[in-house]
Amino acid sequence: MVLKIRKYGDPVLETPCDPVTEFGSDELKQLVDNMFETMYANKGVGLAAPQVGVSKRLTVIDPSAGEDPEAKIVLVNPELVKLEGRQVGEEGCLSIPGFREDVKRAMRVKVKAKDAAGETIELEGEELLARAIQHENDHLNGVLFLKHLSPLKRDMIRRKIRKLQQSGEWD
Ligand code: NI
Repeated sequence: MVLKIRKYGDPVLETPCDPVTEFGSDELKQLVDNMFETMYANKGVGLAAPQVGVSKRLTVIDPSAGEDPEAKIVLVNPELVKLEGRQVGEEGCLSIPGFREDVKRAMRVKVKAKDAAGETIELEGEELLARAIQHENDHLNGVLFLKHLSPLKRDMIRRKIRKLQQSGEWD
């Protein structure tokens, strides 16, 4: 089922999420399936639970955007244990559609997490995967990529979004 994506302005996006404490439930599996479906339907490479209104530390990532079934990643309660190097690249967010900006991120990350069944996983990624992991991990802390921009850029985007909200083109 494709879920509704919460847009910038919805408080759930700026609220730190609670850890997942129950694993292997049908409910969790269903949520993960729905999140992948929602991400693919919107042509994203990552989606965090708060973006579908669930304030839990859970994110799905697929740098292949659905091309490679092996590329599907589920990170529950992730912890970034290593950040190395630096990359600057264009980033967008399904909760802030229509806006893309250069964001500085670490080039390589190592993440420790659980999968949906509660098994511990450790994963290393670089470039696009590293960027996606950092972006999605931020979501779980209530942080959007706008926070990484200069105040000037951020205010400009906020003003444009406010206009869209006022004209009813942002919900
Ligand atoms: Ni995002």
